[in-house]
Amino acid sequence: MSHLIAPSLLSANFLNLESDIEMINQSEADWFHLDIMDGVFVPNISFGFPVIEKISKKATKPLDVHLMIIDPDRYLKRFQETGAYLISVHYEACPHLHRTVYAIKNSEVKAGVVLNPHTPVHLLSSIIKDLDLVMLMAVNPGYGGQNFIPETYSKIEQLKELILEKGSQALIEIDGGVDLSNSSEIIRCGADVLVAGNTVFSSPDPSGVIHQLKYC
Ligand code: DX5
Ligand code: ZN
Repeated sequence: MSHLIAPSLLSANFLNLESDIEMINQSEADWFHLDIMDGVFVPNISFGFPVIEKISKKATKPLDVHLMIIDPDRYLKRFQETGAYLISVHYEACPHLHRTVYAIKNSEVKAGVVLNPHTPVHLLSSIIKDLDLVMLMAVNPGYGGQNFIPETYSKIEQLKELILEKGSQALIEIDGGVDLSNSSEIIRCGADVLVAGNTVFSSPDPSGVIHQLKYC
């Protein structure tokens, strides 16, 4: 499988969101990455259900929903109803992670778990077989446009090893600081999905950047 590209709408132009959604629809991107922040788990607030529902009506590609919120169980049903293809919750926000993962999967939505930069990969060893995806944060979550933390490369390799060792089907997604200078190394280490916000939307040619990330 060639790797997937998931542009993050966090860096899109919210005064003209429809045109950025259309650009992604027409591009070689594979998913829409939606960053949901509650101002508690992370020091920023992004957008919520009314905006996601509108995005869902226009997007022709799967919605990859990244929940940076405490107590995600409270809202899973509503996120499922927005038409999410995949919902990822943070390891650090879920004391009953197995229950949360199955609450996502029981509704036919794919389930991902996200690790912050300081959280070691081995903590997923007892649940990796149940996951459709693991997302490694390559920045501290909360903001777009931050620098990639190089320690992520070895975490990708460790995660790949764990996935193979346990016979898991989980994809590896990398979020934060992905750009044209590091994307090929990230893929070489074993990543399957690249999230890119700032790199895509700060370019005068966003679909050209998506193409370059896709064939890096
Ligand atoms: C950070 C978000 C990311 C972010 C990526 O908290 O989870 O998805 O939008 O943005 P860039 O690609 O700009 O680092
Ligand atoms: Zn994200």
